[in-house]
Amino acid sequence: MEEHTIVLIVGAGPAGLAMAACLTQLSIPYLIVEREDCSASLWRNRAYDRLRLHLAKEFCELPLMSYPADAPTYIPKDQFVKYLDDYIECFNIRPKYNTSMESCTYDEGRRCWFGMARDMKTSMVVRYMARFLVVASGENSAESIPVIPGLHGFAGEIIHSSRYKSGATYSGKNVLVVGCGNSGMEIAYDLASHGANTSIVVRSPVHVVTKEIVRLGMTLVQHTPVNLVDDLLVRLSNFVFGDHSKHGIVRPKIGPLLLKAKTGRSAVIDVGTVGLIKKGAIKVLDNISNIKGSIVEFKNKNESTFDAIVFATGYKRMANMWLKNGESMLNNDGLPKKEFPNHWKGESGLYCVGSAKRGLAGIAMDAKNIADDILSCLASMHDI
Ligand SMILES: Cc1cc2nc3c(=O)[nH]c(=O)nc-3n(C[C@H](O)[C@H](O)[C@H](O)COP(=O)(O)OP(=O)(O)OC[C@H]3O[C@@H](n4cnc5c(N)ncnc54)[C@H](O)[C@@H]3O)c2cc1C
Ligand SMILES: *[C@@H]1O[C@H](CO)[C@@H](O)[C@H](O)[C@H]1NC(C)=O
Ligand SMILES: *[C@@H]1O[C@H](CO)[C@@H](O)[C@H](O)[C@H]1NC(C)=O
Ligand SMILES: *[C@@H]1O[C@H](CO)[C@@H](O)[C@H](O)[C@H]1NC(C)=O
Ligand SMILES: *[C@@H]1O[C@H](CO)[C@@H](O)[C@H](O)[C@H]1NC(C)=O
Repeated sequence: MEEHTIVLIVGAGPAGLAMAACLTQLSIPYLIVEREDCSASLWRNRAYDRLRLHLAKEFCELPLMSYPADAPTYIPKDQFVKYLDDYIECFNIRPKYNTSMESCTYDEGRRCWFGMARDMKTSMVVRYMARFLVVASGENSAESIPVIPGLHGFAGEIIHSSRYKSGATYSGKNVLVVGCGNSGMEIAYDLASHGANTSIVVRSPVHVVTKEIVRLGMTLVQHTPVNLVDDLLVRLSNFVFGDHSKHGIVRPKIGPLLLKAKTGRSAVIDVGTVGLIKKGAIKVLDNISNIKGSIVEFKNKNESTFDAIVFATGYKRMANMWLKNGESMLNNDGLPKKEFPNHWKGESGLYCVGSAKRGLAGIAMDAKNIADDILSCLASMHDI
């Protein structure tokens, strides 16, 4: 059997849900498929306990629905999930769960996208036909762990940040965190405050800021040149944190907002990690060179024994695995070929929402643009 629809959305995270809401508002029929058995699985099942939205709530709204007036500025994970549940109810979104997209192909002759998905319960193939295809499968589809000699023989526990919940089970253990993005820095703090002997590998320069400094920057940059705002943010951060380069945390040469816009690398919003590093409660270590049993050797030839290694080393995009005619939109790394703000549209009715490394605000923009574009295509089509 083949299900026919106008728009096929792949993924029911915040991006897929935002897309569904915007289409609903324009009365455009769609279907949405999701491989897991719930929406927003990243937030429900793959996030640590103490996670809050890193950015202030005004930068984290999906289209057409605000947070309750009494919501805190930095929304806790459970409250964000509640917002998504309300969103799903409000726009009557009915994702087809347990349905993993395995291949989408464009048929030039029939001018349609053909999707083949797998029902994860029954293993049966489900077929879809749609005029438009929206990729909403996320930037965080699969765990990315670097290749390190000897890692497979590591005697202790290896865990990716997406499966880390809390430091409670690591009390008294020697734990190494690899990666100094927001997840790695916060997990290191969580481990140390639960009594783990915590070390962190900082592999590259990073901007450490406070959430208030970021909020100020994101607000100012709407009316002020980015280099001026960046200068101010660096000055404020240096004032708050002092010089932390002697502790192994070095600022990139390019400012935090420009770095984010150019490379997608976010500044780290400190939750207390820097204070613990300065006190020596969290040790900053060099990059790993290899692993022998439970001994980890570092590039500077030091070595230490660890009970566990947490890899906060990010994610891989997987859309290229199933999207067969995506060359007009995505490169080999699954990143948009066109630069922001034109990244969201490919050829033949192909779109992507949430792939510009701009978080929930970027998702909201993409979803609105795509829905408007689909509406104008439909308005000028005669062969439907
Ligand atoms: C720890 C963390 C904290 C973050 N905090 C913030 C923040 O404070 N503010 C902010 O703006 N952004 C934040 N982000 C970034 C971003 O907003 C989130 O990652 C957001 O969840 C992205 O939504 P998404 O729908 O694009 O992707 P996802 O949430 O990853 O959803 C994609 C969905 O697609 C499904 N899927 C994937 N492949 C297939 C397939 N082949 N077939 C069917 N379904 C598939 C997945 O199961 C998933 O449910 C954070 C990210 C992380 C990891
Ligand atoms: C998805 O599949 C799991 C088992 O694989 C099952 O427990 C769950 O009820 C299914 N969910 C839906 C919505 O079909
Ligand atoms: C750190 O080491 C890993 C594996 O040994 C390597 O892949 C990576 O490129 C290194 N990173 C830096 C910044 O040196
Ligand atoms: C690591 O090596 C440096 C010299 O390269 C040394 O100063 C430092 O004390 C060592 N650190 C640990 C934790 O052994
Ligand atoms: C804590 O970890 C550091 C870094 O690996 C190590 O040098 C130190 O010996 C550990 N302390 C204890 C008490 O195990």
